[in-house]
Parts: sequence; structure tokens; C-alpha cells
Amino acid sequence: MSMRVGILTGGGDCPGLNAVIRAVAKSLMSQHDATVIGFEEGFLGLIERRSVELDWRACSGILNRGGTILGTHNRANPMSYFGAGGADVSDDVAAYYHELGLDGVVVLGGDGTMSICHDLSQRGMRFIGVPKTIDNDLMNTDRTFGFDTAVSVATDALDRLQTTGQSHSRIMILETMGRYTGWLALHAGIAGGADLILIPEIPYDIDEIVRVCADRESRQRFTIIVVAEGAKPRGGDMVVRELIEGSPDPMRLGGVSGVLRLALESRLDSEIRTTVLGHVQRGGSPTPFDRVFASNLGAYAASLVASDTWGRMVALKDNHLTSVPLEQVAHQTRYVPRDSTLVATALAVGASFGDPDLDLPLAALGDSVKYE
Ligand code: F6P
Repeated sequence: MSMRVGILTGGGDCPGLNAVIRAVAKSLMSQHDATVIGFEEGFLGLIERRSVELDWRACSGILNRGGTILGTHNRANPMSYFGAGGADVSDDVAAYYHELGLDGVVVLGGDGTMSICHDLSQRGMRFIGVPKTIDNDLMNTDRTFGFDTAVSVATDALDRLQTTGQSHSRIMILETMGRYTGWLALHAGIAGGADLILIPEIPYDIDEIVRVCADRESRQRFTIIVVAEGAKPRGGDMVVRELIEGSPDPMRLGGVSGVLRLALESRLDSEIRTTVLGHVQRGGSPTPFDRVFASNLGAYAASLVASDTWGRMVALKDNHLTSVPLEQVAHQTRYVPRDSTLVATALAVGASFGDPDLDLPLAALGDSVKYE
């Protein structure tokens, strides 16, 4: 009997989801004569019994399309279903899964989604995860798809802020997403030549930021600051925008650029302007890198399914496609190491992290350093 494989996209969307859906479905249909069933709106489709067969036509012309043709939902959790007062409906989900005669489900998601898969695996369902998030913060993979596109959007924003900031001799602050990690701000900051890169992993000292800006006021006359939404001052907290009831991770960050502007305004002569990039970073067409990467991840996920390997997430490690057990990803976050090559590189090209004590010569990292 030919295989029957489910697929769903969980949590927040990101560019490249459709490229993965296409690669998984086309590989399984062409090489293994499989039937592929897509669940609508992430785990909500499994809970509410909403699925659709993905045939060749459904997977055609979607490689370059942003978002997800299946839809997603960032509050749908079978262990705590908001539509049933937070009840555990995982037994019903397992029943539907078995009624559909599935061999397993390929799930595209971040840490919240991988954690749900891990929990559902204990109830007899089988999953393969594919690492999705613009935050690049999933444990045990060097990269997630969607990240490159978000970096490219944020870099473009920095380039644009630089020309207008330079014309007006202003301090321009760009706030990026990234949740509790600074991967996005750090990559975009290096790519866009930011003068200050503020990330959660390196709490900033406001006096040091004032010093860098004042120094630039006297010479270059403009300053570009990229701040991750999760950045915080030494001894202080992240800026929380809102709490989303029922979400696996209810905290939504945002507003640190405004806080920073207020703290700097009275101490510097230049005008300061802030830009919060928001969901622009998540929308639109994936970059060529993300299209290729997403296709690789999807085809590799299909090959694991075909070899009856389950309970793992596809990963990129040291330039190899591989897979890791879901429990090594679930409920975890991959932070930027303070002694990362990227931090050393940014310092080497003159960027500041707003920490006067941070000193990390690349040479101190040894002969061979991990490229991040
Ligand atoms: O995890 C992806 C992400 O875009 C984060 O960078 C951001 O903090 C969060 O999701 C925003 O979530 P929402 O789409 O619910 O506002």
C-alpha cells in the first residue's frame, strides 16, 4: 500500500514555507507514489478535522510565494485547545490521525511547534520536523529557513535608513524582530554596516551608547542603530508589547526602540528617528538562498519519511543535512554566544554592542572558528 503522509505549518509564518511544502509533496509523490494530505491552519486543522489532499496542481507555482498555502495558527495546541476552554483534545487528534490512515506528519515550525510534536509523539503519532523561523533560534540546527529573507529585508531597511539618516545628520534606530535572540539584528547589523548592534544576549549600557553616538556626532554626524526587539539594558528587562492569551509563548515583544530614543534624546544633540520593521520581515517572497535551503530541507524530510524515520527534526549542522531527535529541539532556544565569531567580526569592523567591557579579538578565538 502506498504511503499516506500529512503536512502542516505551525506557529508564525515565514518565507519559504511553500517551498518546503512543494519539495516534501513533490518528492513523496514522484519518488514514492505517496498521498499527501495538508492540514489547514496548523494544528487547528488536526483538531477541527480540516484537511485537503495536496496534488501536483496544488503544489505548482508556489515556490516563490510567501506565507503558507495551508494557513497557520499560533494558538492551536491540542494539549490545550482554546476552542474547548483549554482542554486536552490530543486523544481526538490521535483518532483523526489514525482514521486518515497516516504514516506520519511532516511539520514545519519553530520551537513551540516542535514541542507540540514531541508531546504528541508520546500519544502514538509520528512526526518529522522542518526548522522554520525568521529568528534562527532553534536548537541543534545551524540555520532555519526564512531567516535569510528576514535578514535581507532588515538589511534593505538599514541601507535606506542610512541614506536618509546621513542626509539629515540623524540617529536612526531600526527595531527588528527575533524574539529572545539577536541573530536577525546581528546579521542585518553586519550586512548593513550598523554602528551599534543591540541584542538580548549582550545587555547594553546606555552611557556607552551615548558615548558612541556623541563621538559620531562630532565626526560622521549620523549614526545607525539596529536593536533586536528583545534587547535590554544591563540589569533591566525586555520591553513587552502584549500578552496573547492561549499562545504557547504568550509574550510579544516590541517598543525597545522608543524606550531607547527617550533615553538618548535628552543627552544628545542629534535628532533621533525610530523605525519598527515588524511583520514586513516575515512577509513576501523568499530569497533564492531560502528557496534552495527550503527545497533541500523538504526533500530531505521526504527521504526520512520514505525510510520510515520519525521523531526527528531535519537540521543543518556543519554544512551537512542531518536530523536530530525532537526532544533535543523542544522547549529550547539557541542564543547568540557572547564569544561568537559574528560578534568578533562586528567588533572588528567598528560596530559597538553598547557594552564597554566587550573585547573579543578574532585571533583570540583560535585558528579555526565556527562560521555562524
Ligand atoms: O517567531 C517569529 C516572530 O516573528 C518573532 O520574531 C516575533 O517576536 C513574533 O514572531 C511575533 O509574533 P506575532 O506574529 O504573533 O505578532
